[in-house]
Amino acid sequence: MLGPWFLSPTLAVGANSALGYVGRRWRRERTHQRPQFARAYGDRMQVDSLPLVGPPTPLLPMSRLGSALGIGTDRLWVKRDDLTLVGGGGNKARKLALLCADALDVGATVLVTGGAVQSNHVRVTGAAAAMAGLRAVGVVGGRRGAPEGNVVLDALFGIELIDAADRYGAVDLAAAIEAECERLRSAGERPYHIPLGGSSPLGASGYVAAAEEIRAALGDCTVYVADGTGGTHAGLVAGFGDHRRVRGVDVGAVPDVAGVVAALAGDVASVVDRPVPIGVPWVDGGQVGAGYGRSTRAAEEAMTLAARTEGLVLDPVYTSKAFAAMVHDVRDQALPDGPVVFLHTGGLPGLFVERHMRTMAGG
Ligand SMILES: Cc1ncc(COP(=O)(O)O)c(C=O)c1O
Repeated sequence: MLGPWFLSPTLAVGANSALGYVGRRWRRERTHQRPQFARAYGDRMQVDSLPLVGPPTPLLPMSRLGSALGIGTDRLWVKRDDLTLVGGGGNKARKLALLCADALDVGATVLVTGGAVQSNHVRVTGAAAAMAGLRAVGVVGGRRGAPEGNVVLDALFGIELIDAADRYGAVDLAAAIEAECERLRSAGERPYHIPLGGSSPLGASGYVAAAEEIRAALGDCTVYVADGTGGTHAGLVAGFGDHRRVRGVDVGAVPDVAGVVAALAGDVASVVDRPVPIGVPWVDGGQVGAGYGRSTRAAEEAMTLAARTEGLVLDPVYTSKAFAAMVHDVRDQALPDGPVVFLHTGGLPGLFVERHMRTMAGG
């Protein structure tokens, strides 16, 4: 299978390379230290999670959307994780709240992560680093153009962007992040490696709490979520204890995202001392279109529908495809029984990239 569009095939990230490796290594090195991790947030408090998320994010009915789709006003809900506190919001806050606390606990001086040029994860890592008093480096792959979208915010938050291909040549992006950590280590820094999407078992475990918030409000339900690296999906599944509660919508960022979710959900469950989730990952591969970062007619229609029925802004890369999958299932009468929750994972800055602006504004 081809890798994501923003990486050359040699940079493609496989399910068993980056995510699996980090998961295994984290378990080996950190599990026994769990009670001690992240005791410090500056000198101000002792926490194992930084306050990057805020209070439980709103869970709101999408009554006008339900009416417009002809299924009544009480079936569809939206969980507003686009409204988390740090760096413009989005799903990365729940992961980074734990990862940054761990970084402080181990005495790190600099967070090192990576992604596509327009990575939301890199942007929010920059903001989280600022809140934690750390430096941050983002190793990015893909075409570089005029500063736009997330890149503008990267500059504002002061994250240092490094072009993976320029510095490390044609290597796996995850390997380039590790190589950058090594370079910083030899320069006397203490780097903290955050994998792509923040999707280590510890990072993904941030989504256990989101599952609990949803279950406390709605009981048994199904959550639609965009699958990039699969960490958000895996954390939710670990929180529900059941793969059938989560429908991931592949956006084409990594090959075999279902395989990643299966392994990572088990790893997250062990981080939070829960049973291995029952069932198998449920991933909808029907919305990828031409690939990662390429919008589709269905995604564009979803953006307009969400905006004009619920006043919701979706992004062109992730949330619009997840929303399109949910709308498709409503129209196909394939919606699961019970309440259905669309997890809004953020990504708004990605709309302000020239090609997407032209499409959505009709330019
Ligand atoms: C806006 C947005 N939604 C969803 C995702 C996917 O999350 P995950 O990588 O945990 O699958 C991302 C990942 O970057 C994202 O930026």
